Amino acid sequence: MAQRDVAVIVGSLRKGSFTHRAARALESLAPPDLRLQEIPIRDLALYDQDLDDEKRPPPEWVAFRDRIRPMAAVLFATPEYNRSVPGLLKNALDVGSRPYGQSVWSKKPAAVLSTSPGAIGGFGANHHLRQSLVFLDMPVLQQPEAYVGGVDKLVTEDGGFADDKTRAFFQSIMDAFAAHVGRYA
Ligand code: FNR
Repeated sequence: MAQRDVAVIVGSLRKGSFTHRAARALESLAPPDLRLQEIPIRDLALYDQDLDDEKRPPPEWVAFRDRIRPMAAVLFATPEYNRSVPGLLKNALDVGSRPYGQSVWSKKPAAVLSTSPGAIGGFGANHHLRQSLVFLDMPVLQQPEAYVGGVDKLVTEDGGFADDKTRAFFQSIMDAFAAHVGRYA
């Protein structure tokens, strides 16, 4: 069976991040042909175009681009900050998108999981992220939409599920994502 590598990008640095938990929980439901691996974005310096123009990109930008480039797909998991994505995640998108014409995101199928302890489930972050992914030419899974409200109660600290309904919802996301990745392979 052909293995496909999927980058998991998580937009929170918090130790006890619920978004990390939710990403772990979703990963646990992946079929055997998808190999999900989180690619850290913590150490990416803020994007500065001068560094690319002057051909002196920071080594961590180069390493990040090199890790994303061979991936078959990308799963984004994001909390919501002020009804949008955390700057950390936007910065990772920006770093991967340049130098101009050499974006590592282009054409990779993607999915967006947004989380919040609140009721709206990171809807604003989810759709701001989708706006960028359109420009980055990433076909994004449309359905099911993955807004996980009350995430702190639905996913346990060890990345398990609080109940069968939540597990079934996450499974439906993973099944649709796996089929989506397969269509673009
Ligand atoms: C938040 N939080 C938040 N929640 C939400 O539902 N909508 C929002 O717009 C915001 N805005 C926001 C801004 C900032 C700067 C912070 C620090 C937090 C609350 C947020 O959902 C909560 O802190 C989560 O626990 C963050 O996700 P992680 O770190 O647990 O994955």
